[in-house]
Parts: sequence; C-alpha cells; structure tokens
Amino acid sequence: MLKEIHEQPQVIAETLEGRIAGGKVLNEILGVGASELLQQTQAVHIVACGTSYHAGLVARYWIETLAGVPCTTEIASEYRYRQPVVQPGTLFLTISQSGETADTLAALKMAKSRGYHAELAVCNVPESSLVRESRLVLMTRAGPEIGVASTKAFTTQLATLALFALALGKVKGMDEGRYQRGVRQLETLPSMVADVLALDPQIKALAEHFVDKEHALFLGRGTHWPIAMEGALKLKEISYIHAEAYAAGELKHGPLALVDADMPVIAIAPNDHLIDKLSSNMEEVRARGGRLYLFVEQGIKHGLHGESVLTLPKCGEISAPVLFTIPLQLLAYHVAVLRGMMPGL
Ligand code: F6R
Repeated sequence: MLKEIHEQPQVIAETLEGRIAGGKVLNEILGVGASELLQQTQAVHIVACGTSYHAGLVARYWIETLAGVPCTTEIASEYRYRQPVVQPGTLFLTISQSGETADTLAALKMAKSRGYHAELAVCNVPESSLVRESRLVLMTRAGPEIGVASTKAFTTQLATLALFALALGKVKGMDEGRYQRGVRQLETLPSMVADVLALDPQIKALAEHFVDKEHALFLGRGTHWPIAMEGALKLKEISYIHAEAYAAGELKHGPLALVDADMPVIAIAPNDHLIDKLSSNMEEVRARGGRLYLFVEQGIKHGLHGESVLTLPKCGEISAPVLFTIPLQLLAYHVAVLRGMMPGL
C-alpha cells in the first residue's frame, strides 16, 4: 500500500500523458466523434462502488460546476435493482479499478436496455469485462493495484474524470479562464502530489493520536465531502477503527451528539467558497469538547486551530480533492501499522 501511495506522482503523470496539449484537453481522448457526442450530452449518470463511487461523487460536482451539465452519482448495488427513468441525451458513466466488480457490471448490463445516449467506462484494466462491454472507454493508467485498499487507482480516476469534465465543459462553453486554470492544475498535479507526499513525517506523528481510538469522524464540504468519505473508508478498511464521514453541515442534525474527547474529528479545509461555513462547523465541534485535527490549505485566513494542523500547498478546484486525499491515505496506513494491522512491518 505504501509503495502504491508513493507511486502516485508517476501514475498520475502517465494518466495525463498525451491527453493535454497546447493548454487544452484533447477531445480525442474519447475517440473519434467525441466532440459531437459531448455536444449531445444533456446529462451524466455515474454508477460505481466503494472508492470508485467516491471518485464519481467528486466528478458530479465538477461536471455540474464546470460543464453546467446535470449529473447524478449512484452506488451500483442500488442502481441495478431499481427502475431508473432516463432522460434523452444521458451518458451512462461507470468507474471501476478492476472492471470486474459484479454490481457495476450488472448495472452496465441493465443500463444498456434503458435508452442511454452512450456508455463510458473509466477503468484501470484494459482487458476487463467493463471495458469490453462499454462503447466508450477512458483508461486510468495506475498500473496493477495489489494493495487491498485502493489508493493510486482513486487519484488516477480523479485525474481522468477531471479531464472528462474539462472536455465536456469546453464543448458546453465554460468560462475560458476557469478552463485554463483547470488544465494548468492538472499539468502541475504530479509534482504537487509529490510535495504533499513529503509531509509524510508529520502525518506519521499525527497517526500516534489515533492508535488507541475506537471511532473517528471525518468532515468535509463540497468536493471534499466525498474525500472525507474516502478518508473514513481507508481508515476503517485497514486499521479497523470505526470511521464515518459527514458533510460538515449535517453535523448539527445528529452526529454532533457523539463528539467528545474520545472521538477525533478530522476536518478537510481547502481555501474555497465553503471555508466560512466549515469554520463555523469546527466551532460546533470545539464547543462539544471534540479533538479537532485539521488538514488545511496554505493561505487560509481563518484562525482555524485544533490539536494539530497539517498545512497543504495552495491548490485549486481540480487539484484540491486529489491533494487532500494523499494525507488521508498516509494517515490510514500509519495508524494501521501502529495498531499492528500490517504484519511484517
Ligand atoms: C476500497 C476499495 C473498494 C473498491 C470497490 C470497487 O479501498 O478498494 O471500495 O473501490 O470494491 O472496486 P472497483 O473499483 O474495482 O470496481
């Protein structure tokens, strides 16, 4: 897992390779006739499981915000057993590392009889069933993922979905400055991921605070709510600590009752339009005597303070969800090692 976490700068670079040129995302990434297909796309319906579902939740924000195209994201094991109503011009998008997840494959099979505009798979295994069964394919190039917990597959999925959202945004007339900034963030993403990986010693020290805990709460807003979900999934999956994620605004609607000194709260705080809101949610945690661990973006003006604050470099709307994922992966890894869950280490 640690090896795969550290491969991320390289595999993200490989995923972007040949797909951006002259400050633009190349439409050909989706094959011949992609411009027409994107032009005709009126809505996107994303279906996936687990970590891949979290990537789809981030993509929903990007597709709606950048391209102005309605998008929903759904768990495959739910989708396959319901009767979805499909609007004309809807693109069906599956996301899967393996391309062999039974629920995702079954969802695709069902979708084919539902009158979608086309099916697009974002996948890491070229010879997989999902790739074979989909009309359009965007490969992630994470290489084989051996670790139980998905790490590099997730961040390469995000990079690929960002390419897709920007390509769709371009044909849908998104603001040119925003488009250029998005492309630039992708171009610099591999080196920025490497910068965040260099924070490892601080994250290892932070992990000590979690060793004897039974529960943890992860909070985020906007694109960082699914990143909080991903952080919670990683922690529970490999350290066996019960972890939940909440959209920070939901805290007061129930889960705040659980917050005390034994329930560490990890808050993800990029410097975006939601920072004031998140900051007042942090006050709610503090008022309950909660232990707050903050992952913040450099340059935040708010006097956010907690037990510990990890500062990430300045990022943007595309790079931030990827960059904030890295310390969460490392945290889960180090907590698991300290709790003796990784035999041989
Ligand atoms: C979590 C994890 C799983 C997978 C899920 C879907 O670390 O690995 O949640 O993301 O089982 O798998 P794929 O992406 O292969 O469809």
